[in-house]
Amino acid sequence: MQCSWKSLVLLALASIAIQYTAIRTFSTRPPSLLCSVGLVLASCTTNCSINDVMQKGQVTLQSCGDVLPHIASIPVPPAIHNARRRTNILILATTRSGSSFVGQLFNQNPEVFYLFEPLYHVQSALLPRLATSRNSAERRVMLGPARDLLRSLYQCHLSSLERYIQPHPTQHLTDKLFRRGASQSLCSAPVCEASLSPKEQQLVLADEGECVKKCSPLNISLAASACRTKHHAAIKTVRIPQISDLRALIEDPKLNLKVVQLVRDPRGILASRIETFRDTYRLWRLWRATGRRPHNLDLRQINTVCEDFLQSVSTGLARPRWLKGRYMLLRYEDLARFPLQKTRELYTFLGLVLESSVVDWIINNTRGSNDLSTRQKFTTVRDSAANAENWRVKLSFDLVVYTQTACKPLLGLLGYKTVLHPRELINLSHSLVEDRRFLPFS
Ligand SMILES: *[C@@H]1O[C@H](CO)[C@@H](O)[C@H](O)[C@H]1NC(C)=O
Ligand SMILES: *[C@@H]1O[C@H](CO)[C@@H](O)[C@H](O)[C@H]1NC(C)=O
Ligand SMILES: *[C@@H]1O[C@H](CO)[C@@H](O)[C@H](O)[C@H]1NC(C)=O
Ligand SMILES: *[C@@H]1O[C@H](CO)[C@@H](O)[C@H](O)[C@H]1NC(C)=O
Repeated sequence: MQCSWKSLVLLALASIAIQYTAIRTFSTRPPSLLCSVGLVLASCTTNCSINDVMQKGQVTLQSCGDVLPHIASIPVPPAIHNARRRTNILILATTRSGSSFVGQLFNQNPEVFYLFEPLYHVQSALLPRLATSRNSAERRVMLGPARDLLRSLYQCHLSSLERYIQPHPTQHLTDKLFRRGASQSLCSAPVCEASLSPKEQQLVLADEGECVKKCSPLNISLAASACRTKHHAAIKTVRIPQISDLRALIEDPKLNLKVVQLVRDPRGILASRIETFRDTYRLWRLWRATGRRPHNLDLRQINTVCEDFLQSVSTGLARPRWLKGRYMLLRYEDLARFPLQKTRELYTFLGLVLESSVVDWIINNTRGSNDLSTRQKFTTVRDSAANAENWRVKLSFDLVVYTQTACKPLLGLLGYKTVLHPRELINLSHSLVEDRRFLPFS
């Protein structure tokens, strides 16, 4: 810590002077104040100066959670948030990187209209035979339509989705929306037209299948008006390859789009995909089991992930103007280890109020909860969150070596350590995740 307590307090006072002159009660607790007002201090790894504060008018406290473990209990006051301006959020992810978990951080917020993978429909309409296309030319076929659709969805023109849904909805009604049940907005009144008791409503929100069964069919016009009544919108997608593919949307001032890029150690992604997509990743399992690499193994299945991440992360870290204030890099492993702290950072970056429902959800669904009965649906998420590094006992050393060689520049950039020996791989008391901070820049 190069930042002394004195400078922290000074900074706190300076920022109060700038932004909160009237709030006197805070001055009794200067350390927590920094965090409680959601300020982000230029950094404690470089030196902080009052000049920085004056210039930026806003500061970033890097090691807030480390220095001030009690911040978790301090609510962020809504005053500093730009709550009136509609913020559109995109979770840029890849399969098995923890994106469902991140999606929940918005889905659980009653102010947010959340859509889970709407681009699934674009892909299945345009590339029907390529469930998980890795050919970049093919992937690009759907990019233009995908961007157009995202733009429409952020403006709540949900009917734009209809031309991709098969069979096409009639009278704006469909029961074929992909994973409708993953969106609370689409499973509660007024979009869910069934009259449900509070208990039934809870069940419908907790179980995707129940939502489809009880609320069906979906009236897309009704969903569009629900979208308009919410303050913000969030869309999760694993179908946009790189951040540069979103540039036109990010630069559109009308959209006020902010992107959260979720990354994960590619070795963890591979291990998780091998377990989840058993057919598609059959040859990898064969390799793991036999110790011999099948000659027809599709190495693009992991190489593409690393190329896409590398391109996006390098772009983000180069801090181009067009990403200013609009890009945040989030490592899944950090979220798994510090879910509340990372979620706070996320919400601060987005300028959204962290609703208590979101905090409750995190506590219920991560190791923060001691009550087993409250952990139901996201048990698997919780377990993977608790064991973000458990790929180390699931992949063979060969696969690990292959992946870390193919992804070497990326691992370095993201702070994932490579292993040189099988013993090192399975020694879980030696973490392979370096402490790194990836702060949004503004
Ligand atoms: C921070 O300040 C100290 C002492 O003033 C100086 O030695 C150090 O190089 C500075 N660090 C950075 C990153 O500027
Ligand atoms: C769908 O919702 C709209 C808007 O509330 C309503 O006007 C329309 O009648 C509904 N459509 C059907 C088929 O129920
Ligand atoms: C969290 O768990 C409590 C206790 O079971 C429950 O009442 C509440 O609805 C849960 N909240 C969320 C957001 O999951
Ligand atoms: C495991 O890693 C820890 C921390 O790096 C080290 O102290 C310990 O000796 C290692 N254990 C083995 C069996 O290599």
